[in-house]
Formats: sequence, C-alpha cells, structure tokens
Amino acid sequence: MKVLVVGKGGREHAIITALHESPTETEIHAFPGSDAIFAIAKPADASDLPSLIAFLKRESFDLCVAGEESYLVTGEGLANACRAAGIPCWGPPKEAAQLEASKEFAKRFMVRHGIPTGGYAAVDSVEAAREAIGGKYPTVLKFDGLAAGKGVAVCPDEAAAETFIDEVLARRKFGEGRLLVEEFLDGPEISIFASVVDAEYQILAPARDYKRIGDGDAGPNTGGMGAVSSLEMLDAELRERIDREIVRPTVEGLQRDGLPYRGFLYFGLMLTADGPKILEYNCRFGDPEAQAVLPMITGDFARYVFEGAKGNLSPDLIGFRDGWSVCLVSASAGYPESSHSGDIISGLDALEEARIFHAGTRKNAGGQFETAGGRVYAIVARGATRAVAVATVYRESDKVSFDGMQRRSDIGTRNF
Ligand code: AMP
Ligand code: GLY
Repeated sequence: MKVLVVGKGGREHAIITALHESPTETEIHAFPGSDAIFAIAKPADASDLPSLIAFLKRESFDLCVAGEESYLVTGEGLANACRAAGIPCWGPPKEAAQLEASKEFAKRFMVRHGIPTGGYAAVDSVEAAREAIGGKYPTVLKFDGLAAGKGVAVCPDEAAAETFIDEVLARRKFGEGRLLVEEFLDGPEISIFASVVDAEYQILAPARDYKRIGDGDAGPNTGGMGAVSSLEMLDAELRERIDREIVRPTVEGLQRDGLPYRGFLYFGLMLTADGPKILEYNCRFGDPEAQAVLPMITGDFARYVFEGAKGNLSPDLIGFRDGWSVCLVSASAGYPESSHSGDIISGLDALEEARIFHAGTRKNAGGQFETAGGRVYAIVARGATRAVAVATVYRESDKVSFDGMQRRSDIGTRNF
C-alpha cells in the first residue's frame, strides 16, 4: 500500500510509525516531512497542494492521510483535491473542516444540533468585545481562525482581556478574523477522538493534554507539553453520556448538514458540573495526544485507515492496550514566545523503555540531531498503571537532553 502522510511534527512521526509497524506492507511518503520522519518514510516530490496531488496521481498512491489541519482548508482543500483525483483520503473535505478552521462555524453547528457548549458572542470591534464581556471574569477570548493552539486566552481579569483584545483586533497578531467571547467553563478537560466514516463512527481511547508551559498549569498556552491516554480515564457511564450527547449528535449533524466526513475527529471537552460540554472540534488527531494514543493501538492501523478512507469503517481491525501511556514533551529555550535552534540533542540512542517522536528537530551537517523549533520531541512510555508509566517516561526522558531544554515535571500526575 502506497500511503502519503501530510505534516512534519510529532503527531505525524507517531502516525507514520503506527502505519510502518502495521502488519499490512506499506510504502510511506511524507509531505513536507522531517529528517526524523525520513528514517521510515520517503519525501514527496511536491512543493504545494497542486504539485502534491500531481505526485500522488503520477505515482499511483493508494491513500492520503491528513496529519495536520492546514492543507484541509488550503486552496481547494486536500480531501477535495484527492477526491477529484480518485485517491482515498483520511481527512475531511474543506467544507466540514470549517469545524476546526472557524470557531464561529463550529459554535453555530453545536447550537444548531443541540450539542452542549458554553455561550458565546462573535465580535469584530474592541467596543463590542468589551460589551460582550460585560465585566464578567474570568472570560475566554478566542481568535476565530487557525492559530496553532495559541489563539485562545483564558482571562482572569480586565487587564488580561484588554491585552488579548488589542493583539487580535488592533494589532492583528493572527491576521484577519473575528474574536469570540466565550462563557468560562470549569472542570477537568478530556480529549475524545473518533474515527468518522460518513454516518458511522468509532470512539478511540481518550486522552488528556497539558497545554500550559509551566508546572501546575501555569504560564501561557503552548502547542502541548504532554499527554496521557488510557481507556480507564472514562467509566462506562460517562463514556456513554459523551457518546449520546456529543459524539453521536455531531456525526448526525454532519450528515444532516450535508457535510461528508472521513477521518479522525477530535472533541475537546470540559467535564463541568452540568455534564460534558464541548470546547472545540479539531478535524484531525491531537498533537501531542496522538503520540500518547497511537502506541496503545494494536491490530492493523494501516488497513483500518485505508478501509475508512474508502468508506468502510472497520472497528475490528484495531484494538486498544490496557494500562496507561504518558507522553512528555521537551521544548527549546524561549518557548512558547520564541524558540531556539541549533542546540545538539544528546542521548537519543540511550532510550530503552520508551519511544521518541520528533517535532522540532533537524540533522546538522555532521548527521547529529539538533533543535529546530519550539516543541522539540516527545518521549512516550507505557505502563500497567499511570504511576509506572509516569516514572518510566521521566526516567527515560532524563537520558536525552539539549541546552535550554524545558519540560514539565507534572505530566501524568497533575489533573488526576
Ligand atoms: P481551545 O483551543 O478552544 O480548545 O482552547 C484551548 C484551551 O483553552 C482549552 O484546552 C481550555 O483549557 C481553555 N478553554 C477554551 N475554552 C474555554 C472555556 N470556554 N472555558 C474555560 N477554558 C477554556
Ligand atoms: N492537543 C491539542 C491539539 O492538538 O489541538
């Protein structure tokens, strides 16, 4: 099976590893890929979406997998272009990918289909933002567009709100787009992933990610500093409620709205005192949740995704391991405000009981891996209990380092 994966980060390294380790024989290519990914995948001869589609057609690819979101809504859309070229794609068309690309589109969808979520107002002026907040704090402000996880501010007071409003609406830090003022919701968060194939779906193992840079969930949001996954994170009752109130109405809503969907769908939920409420949809796997969840999947992941992309949801092709998986991210100096490149990473060969998925790394002229981005890599370990998985991931992570490395010390323990 010839498969192309779109993306270059830790999530894509994890997806490609899972495809590579599947019993079905695969020849994997990556676009744009990374030096670490090119150890198990080949580069694609492409520079943009049209040349990528031409490459897939010319080389008779069987499957295209959307790792990251941007190409889903770029130009005519990755899945739309694949469909026109007759190539099965795991990832939704542009129209459905608005669930992630536009927070206002997603909110309207949730309201239309009666899916529990916080109240909101969409505004485009500083005055309207202040009016919508109405002096009530904490308040949640979101830039209405793709911002790599950084377009959200939970503001404890007016000063924080004014700073974010100024960034989004006056200084246009993220470009053109409206601002959503959202009701603040309280409770533990959980990430739910489903494989959606038209009217059918399968819920995968849940996960929890750690978005703040600092221990104790302090400091600014990041792309994600770690994640935990286990089937034990949800009891049967809560799992059933999430399915009934959120996942099923979403899949039915997509059908009702005439939005075909094949691919992973991510539900970011807050488990409030009034029940689960949805914070956001993402039209792909989470990062870094994928790095924690995928090592828990058994069976034939490659065939599972291939069949799904062709319209055959096949839950029996995969299974989930018992126990826990913990993913610990190491970030470079200065992250998330900036990032530091060119620091040599040592100890990569010393890992024994964990795997590593590269995000912001590259090979230097001497063939050594060095830092090349904010989040540098994730170390992932499994264990029969959460405590064992946490101890193992930290023990293994201690073996790998680079100058200025930042990591949290409470991944897998905080919020449990
Ligand atoms: P999002 O990208 O929309 O998932 O938001 C990023 C993070 O901001 C979430 O994981 C939450 O920690 C926080 N957040 C988002 N929306 C809310 C909300 N309505 N109430 C409280 N926290 C929120
Ligand atoms: N872990 C959050 C995300 O992938 O958006």
